[in-house]
Amino acid sequence: MDILETIEELRQTILSQIGSATSSIELEQLRVAVLGKRGSLTEMLRSLGSMLAEQRAEIGMTLNSLRDEFESALTSRKVMLANAELDARIEAGVLDISLPGRQPVIGSQHLISKINEEVCDIFRGIGYAIASGTEVETDYYNFTALNTPPDHPSRGLQDTFYVRDRSGDRAVIEGESDVVLRTQTSGVQVHTMEQQRPPIYILAPGRVYRRDEPDPTHLPQFSQIEGLVVDKNITFADLKGTMDYLCKQLFGSDRKTRFRTHFFPFTEPSAEVDVSCGICHGEGCRFCKGTGWLEILGCGMVDPAVFGFVDIDPEEYTGFAFGMGIERIAMMVSQTPDLRLFFENDQRFLASLGGLG
Ligand code: DAH
Repeated sequence: MDILETIEELRQTILSQIGSATSSIELEQLRVAVLGKRGSLTEMLRSLGSMLAEQRAEIGMTLNSLRDEFESALTSRKVMLANAELDARIEAGVLDISLPGRQPVIGSQHLISKINEEVCDIFRGIGYAIASGTEVETDYYNFTALNTPPDHPSRGLQDTFYVRDRSGDRAVIEGESDVVLRTQTSGVQVHTMEQQRPPIYILAPGRVYRRDEPDPTHLPQFSQIEGLVVDKNITFADLKGTMDYLCKQLFGSDRKTRFRTHFFPFTEPSAEVDVSCGICHGEGCRFCKGTGWLEILGCGMVDPAVFGFVDIDPEEYTGFAFGMGIERIAMMVSQTPDLRLFFENDQRFLASLGGLG
């Protein structure tokens, strides 16, 4: 048989096979059988080399145009089959094109960070500088220089994480190690007063650690913001005015503050500050446990004993300090009953949190 006739026969057979292929897989197998490395057309093209020169040109052209024809037939059949397969899947209900797409998750700032920034902004606005300390601290800064004697209960193993001695493998316990995870940001007061002479107006936000079992109102790690002012003629009235200003800026100008006497080793006199309940406005409700007030921070006038550790003359300077727990404020503004929710990173919860008023 004449070679051109053989080619024509191949053409007809393959085109009809392409036309009757019923699946993408079958079509792909056909493509490999014809155009693949060992495909029938590929073999024919390869045999061109052994042909006579005058035959080669004509047959070469015919085979090349046949390859183009096969390729375009394969492509159009492929598109057709893919559409048919999609239709079949839609009909069978495997693919529901009416389902809404997945919403991309859009992140937002965590409420704890928002409050942190807000409080820092409030104090920056009245001239305070932001100071920072380290989370691993010696007990001198965390306790001793804050006028907290060695037998003070807060130094106990139940309350404080003591850090392992790096020189050996033994877990170091109270009295054997002087390195702790800071239990309060108050140590930043001591560092600041060592490094800087008055006037001092600083705010120190940071994480602190205590040995607490997680429950709705306790976590072994939480955030505090510390404040310290040391200057000439600072009085308790300055402290009261500043705390009242903070509360009104943070929670709204209609909120009231009250001071209750308290004890802290590093301030004398000391007080706890309550802000009027934002839900019942002082009437008493479930949220404020019927008192009309919510406790938000501790504060006081810097104890002269603390000035003694940092060599500041208490006859020349006086000061006040305050410290607040950010999670407590976050619970208040978002009315969240369980502290742990802030750290479980359930995006549905975090996204639902209201911000500051
Ligand atoms: N450090 C205290 C605490 O963790 C909070 C505090 C109270 C800080 C009174 C102060 C202060 O600076 O004057 O409970």
